[in-house]
Amino acid sequence: MDKYVINGGNKLYGRVKIQSAKNSVLPILAATVLTDESVKILNVPQISDVKNMVKILNCLGCVAQYENHDIVINSANATSYEIPSALAHELRSSVFLLGSVISRFKRAKIAYPGGCDIGLRPVDLHLSGLKRLGVNIVENNGYILCDAERLIGNEIMLDCPSVGATENIMLAAVKAEGTTVIKNAAREPEIEDLQNFLNLLGAKICGAGSGTILIEGVKKLSGGEYLPIADRIEAGTFLIATAMCGGEICVEGALAENISSLIHKLRENGCKLHVKNDKITISSKKPLVSVKSIETQPYPGFPTDLQAQMTALCCICNGNSIVTENLFETRFKYVPELRKMGADVTVIDRNAFVRGVPRFKGATVIAQDLRGGAALVLAGLAAQGRTEVLDISHIDRGYESFEYKIRSLGGDIIRNKM
Ligand code: EPZ
Repeated sequence: MDKYVINGGNKLYGRVKIQSAKNSVLPILAATVLTDESVKILNVPQISDVKNMVKILNCLGCVAQYENHDIVINSANATSYEIPSALAHELRSSVFLLGSVISRFKRAKIAYPGGCDIGLRPVDLHLSGLKRLGVNIVENNGYILCDAERLIGNEIMLDCPSVGATENIMLAAVKAEGTTVIKNAAREPEIEDLQNFLNLLGAKICGAGSGTILIEGVKKLSGGEYLPIADRIEAGTFLIATAMCGGEICVEGALAENISSLIHKLRENGCKLHVKNDKITISSKKPLVSVKSIETQPYPGFPTDLQAQMTALCCICNGNSIVTENLFETRFKYVPELRKMGADVTVIDRNAFVRGVPRFKGATVIAQDLRGGAALVLAGLAAQGRTEVLDISHIDRGYESFEYKIRSLGGDIIRNKM
C-alpha cells in the first residue's frame, strides 16, 4: 500500500486541467453493453474505479481497453450476463450494469453490492424500477438474479432521486418496447451526460437534468465517440484546497454551474472566484470566515462528494459551522483523523459541529474512503509540519495523478511505499 508524505504550508498557484467525470464515465461504460458497434470514450482518467469497470466489461465478453486516456469498447461478442462478484464487490457502482445487461441478455446476475465505507448503499429503488419494466428479480444467497421475457416501458416514480437508480432504469429502458417515464429522477449533470451519450448512439431520451426523464424505446443503437463532462468533484476538490492553503489557481474544463453551490459557499468564506467559460479562478488569503451551515442535498444542492473536503476547510475558518450529511449514513469516518491534526469537530448523528482553529498540525492519518481521503490530503497541505496519509488506494479510486497535479501547483507532496 502507498502513502502520501506532505509538508504543509505552501500556497498554491497555477492552472490545473480537470479529467472526465468518474461518475459520468462509469455509467457510460455500462451503457456500451447496449450496442454491438465500437464506442470510444475520450479523456478518461486512469483511476481504479474505471479500470475495474473495464475489467468487468471484459469478463462479460466485451473487448474494452485504454488507449492512453481514451477507452475503446466493442461489445459485439459479449456473451456473459454474470457480473463477477469479486469485481462487483470492488466496484459498488457496477450495479449500474444490471440495466444494460438485462436489456442485452434478458438475464443478469450480480452479487448483492453490500454496504461500503460511506453507508448502507441499498439498491431497492434500482430493483423496484426494473420490476416496473417487466424484470423478474430473485434475491438469494447474496445474489440478485434477474430475467425478463420482454422489457416494456412504464411509468416509474422514485421514492428518492437516486443517481444510480435513475441511470440503471434509463439503461434498461433505452431498448424497451414503448415509452418509460422516470419521475423524481436524479438531476445531477452526470445524468444529462449519460442521456447525451445514449442519444449520440441513437437512443431517444429527453428531460435529464429535470426531475422527469422520458425514454422512447428504440430497436438498435450505433457506435460513436464521446467526450464526457469534466469531473466537478475533482474541480471542487482543487478549489477547496486553494481556499485552505491560500494562493490563486485556475481550474480548467469544469463548468461552474455544475458546482454553483460550492462556489456560493467559498465566496461566503471570503474567497474571490471569477468564472469565464470553463475556467474558474479562485484566490484566497487567511483568515477565512466560517459558513454557518453546509447541508448536503441531491443536485443542485451541496454535493455529498464535497462534504468531507468542505468540512476540512470549515475546521480552519474563523468561527463555527455545522455540516449535515443528508445522503449517506457514515460519511464522517475521516473526522477522527482530522482530530489527530488538531481539528475541533464533534459528530452527532448526521451533524458535524465544527469550531474553527487557526491551523492543522501535521500528523499520521489513515484514509478511510475516497473523498474523506482527499480531505485528509487537503488538511495536510494546509497544516503546519509533516503529514503522512496512509492507505491512499482509496484516493486512487477517483483522482488520477493527484500528487502530480498538487505538486504542479506548488504543494509539497510525494507518494511513498508504506
Ligand atoms: C452516486 O452514488 C455517486 N456514485 C456517488 O459518488 C454520489 O455520492 C451519489 O451518487 C450521490 O450523489 C457514482 O455515480 C458512481 P444514490 P449512488 O443512489 O448512485 C439512497 C463518489 O465519491 N438510495 O444517489 O450510489 C442511498 O442510500 C461517489 O464519487 C436508496 O435508498 O447514490 C442514499 O441515501 C460516492 N435506495 C441516496 O439514495 C436505492 O436503491 C443517494 O444515493 C439507491 C439509493
